[in-house]
Amino acid sequence: MSTKKTSSSSSSKLLPAVLAICSVLVVVVAWSLPQMIPPLFDLHPPRAHPSKTMAAMVYQTHGDPSVLEYDTQHPQPIPKAHQYLIQVHASALNPCDFKQRRNPHIPNFVSPVPRIPGADMAGVVVQTPQSSNSKFLVGDRVAALIPYWGTPWGTMADYVAVDEAHLAKLGPSLNYTEAASYALTGLTVLQSFANLEHDDSLQGKKLLVHAGAGGVGSFAIQWAKHILQSAHVATTASAPKAEFLKELGADQVIDYRTEKFEEILLDYDVVLDPMSWLYEDRSLQVLTSGGHYVNVVGSDWAFDDGIERGNGPTTLINFITSKVRNFIQPNSTPKYGFVGVSPNGAQMQQILDAMESGKIRPVIDRTYHLSEAAEAYRYLEEGRAKGKVVLYHGEMVKQQQSNAAEDDTGGEEKVSHEEVVAADEGAEESHEEKPQSATAEHAEVQAE
Ligand SMILES: NC(=O)c1ccc[n+]([C@@H]2O[C@H](COP(=O)([O-])OP(=O)(O)OC[C@H]3O[C@@H](n4cnc5c(N)ncnc54)[C@H](OP(=O)(O)O)[C@@H]3O)[C@@H](O)[C@H]2O)c1
Repeated sequence: MSTKKTSSSSSSKLLPAVLAICSVLVVVVAWSLPQMIPPLFDLHPPRAHPSKTMAAMVYQTHGDPSVLEYDTQHPQPIPKAHQYLIQVHASALNPCDFKQRRNPHIPNFVSPVPRIPGADMAGVVVQTPQSSNSKFLVGDRVAALIPYWGTPWGTMADYVAVDEAHLAKLGPSLNYTEAASYALTGLTVLQSFANLEHDDSLQGKKLLVHAGAGGVGSFAIQWAKHILQSAHVATTASAPKAEFLKELGADQVIDYRTEKFEEILLDYDVVLDPMSWLYEDRSLQVLTSGGHYVNVVGSDWAFDDGIERGNGPTTLINFITSKVRNFIQPNSTPKYGFVGVSPNGAQMQQILDAMESGKIRPVIDRTYHLSEAAEAYRYLEEGRAKGKVVLYHGEMVKQQQSNAAEDDTGGEEKVSHEEVVAADEGAEESHEEKPQSATAEHAEVQAE
């Protein structure tokens, strides 16, 4: 009898402790779950405006570029209380856009349709957040990478809602197409190099950048050579692009069609690999045992049934092997890291400042009008772009472009970058007069 009493009284004493521990666990899990969601995922995307519309590129179903439609009556986003409304003047294309668009297996909460593609943008602030101490003002020229998972909103539209933490300001000599060009790929490079374990400096080091002629590669070569002062930058590309890559700062260009880089390069400190599905194992061979392999998590441009062709188990095996071997004996084998790019206003500012100072040259292969985005993606999806493919937005610029196209005798470029820059500057002048009226127009959106 007395034993029973003792056990029931001790269990009643334990109950509050168990409840307290459970409550703490629930709080910890509830707090940490959102922290685990990458910043590239927008958990609460802006709502659609019930009556205000805008021009936007949109797809309703997954598929090839033919699913893209130019909708001039698409709802505008209503910025959240802490967000800015930006009138977009230029946006850039990235492979992640079309990989997302082509893949019919992505759950709708991860990539909702109807979807506006695009994550890179430059434009002008037309509405500031409700708080009085906002960092940017109406009329400021800004650029950003915005989150591209979990949201139906993208930058290939006349307006986009953007968090303050993702924005950076353009210097006076940068135009919108240049400023938009290297948002996602530039941030990928900054974050790749910042993530190098133990050492974020490339000064005096030997670096191999794969696919040097692409959006990631053309920025990485310049950043490594002119900002981080790498001693030697080697890159892989097709032969016709070698001279252009040397102008950007590459010391050595390996023609991947006729040469094997692993037979030529030795004792490299870092490999930045946007082509890991093809080059991962061979890249590990050219590194010193204490070197760094940075997997940019690339997958093939062409893939079957919407499924990306990546590296699968090879990557996991290499990653685990590197961790285990380096744990047992530090620097016994190359260190292995991944990068998943995130929006970051401070780093975006570094990119814009480097372009403004002339240390980094925006490499724009082709420019198209927003309404021609399907054609622009068809070009990007061939996998041969040299630098970036950029869209310019707006009727006035488009008008100037079609006038220019009438005089065009048919060069390779769809529209020359210089022509867009000239029109772009015209657009900037016209915006100097516009912001106040645009603000008035959008203030009522906030009120609703
Ligand atoms: N994890 C992340 O956060 C992240 C961020 C950015 C990009 N990525 C991924 O990284 C990859 C590259 O992106 P990107 O924007 O640089 O692509 P991109 O601009 O479309 O790259 C095109 C370039 O790739 C070059 N190329 C094609 N095959 C090659 C080969 N076998 N060897 C060397 N170069 C080759 C082409 O040059 P040639 O004409 O000379 O062949 C072309 O100039 C994509 O898969 C993308 O999804 C991931």
